[in-house]
Amino acid sequence: MTDNKQLKPILKKTETTGHDWDGISEYNIPAPRWWLITWIICIIWAFIYWFFYPTWPIPGGNTKGILNWSAREQLQKSQAEINVKQAVHMEKISRLSLQEIQKNPDLVEFYLNGGKIAFEENCAACHGRGAQGAKGYPNLNDDDWLWGGKLEDIYQTLKFGIRSSHDKTRSTQMPAFGMDKVLKSDEIESVANYVMSLSSKVDFDKKGEEIFKANCVACHGLGGKGNRELGAPNLSDKIWLYGSSKEDIIFTIHYARNGVMPYWSGRLDDNTIKQLALYVHSLGGGE
Ligand code: HEC
Ligand code: HEC
Repeated sequence: MTDNKQLKPILKKTETTGHDWDGISEYNIPAPRWWLITWIICIIWAFIYWFFYPTWPIPGGNTKGILNWSAREQLQKSQAEINVKQAVHMEKISRLSLQEIQKNPDLVEFYLNGGKIAFEENCAACHGRGAQGAKGYPNLNDDDWLWGGKLEDIYQTLKFGIRSSHDKTRSTQMPAFGMDKVLKSDEIESVANYVMSLSSKVDFDKKGEEIFKANCVACHGLGGKGNRELGAPNLSDKIWLYGSSKEDIIFTIHYARNGVMPYWSGRLDDNTIKQLALYVHSLGGGE
């Protein structure tokens, strides 16, 4: 800077503070006016703020300010408002039947959101996060239902469970045909072939069909179409709860299967169970 020929004379006239560090001196120039004004405004603002709002920490808390405002109170107030709004919803909901809820799009949306959260918390461990199921745990997205896919069917399943310890549980037991010595292993193999033939091209002998008619039709129905009253799966589709291989099917006939779904009444409140029923129903396979 000092090399600049034009600036040199001006700067020479400016006073210095008299401080000198190794030949470097400090000019004595006042702060710019705009800066000073801003600074003063800030100070005034700080005093006003201090007067109205909580500011200084003091023993046992802080100065309150004459508005007596507090972030905690504001949060509580807005939470209370939310609770009131929710209570209005909840109050409506607890009086409505599932069908009535279904007719009200606002309520349905509220329900599905709650249902999704409750599903992740309570059901995903067994049925999977996307309700896609796994071996022994039914997929809840498809329209293949063991016990029924109507809203009230699902609601009942959730409330009382399947082979659960609740008095009103859904329950049936397929006999363990091999273990109970009802069928010999060659008969089990024959009937397994027949079962497989219902959904794919597999050779079977007459004996298999006879055994099926005599032992299985009572629950699985003619042609293995299934029976929802009994939770007996449709054996003629390609959807298998316990696997589609011949070994899986023979295992089922030999030992039987007894899938257990816990009951939720008393563990979850009725509104949550309704939310879950609507959510499961909405997944794609609801009837
Ligand atoms: C401990 C594991 C487990 C948990 C947790 C569980 N389920 Fe299940 N669920 C099962 C099993 C196993 C079955 C199949 C029972 C059978 O074989 O009949 C089942 C069946 C069902 C069915 C009947 C499906 C049909 O085809 O009829 C529905 C609906 C269902 N579960 C929904 C839920 C919901 C919603 C939750 C969460 C509140 C839940 N489940 C939690 C294991 C579970
Ligand atoms: C008392 C009723 C009943 C009778 C009789 C019965 N079943 Fe079942 N069966 C069921 C039920 C209920 C299930 C589902 C079990 C579960 O969900 O855990 C089932 C499941 C099956 C499955 C598994 C289906 C899948 O998707 O994985 C096969 C295979 C099967 N039965 C074949 C037979 C055959 C073959 C016979 C006759 C030899 C027979 N069942 C007789 C009630 C019955």
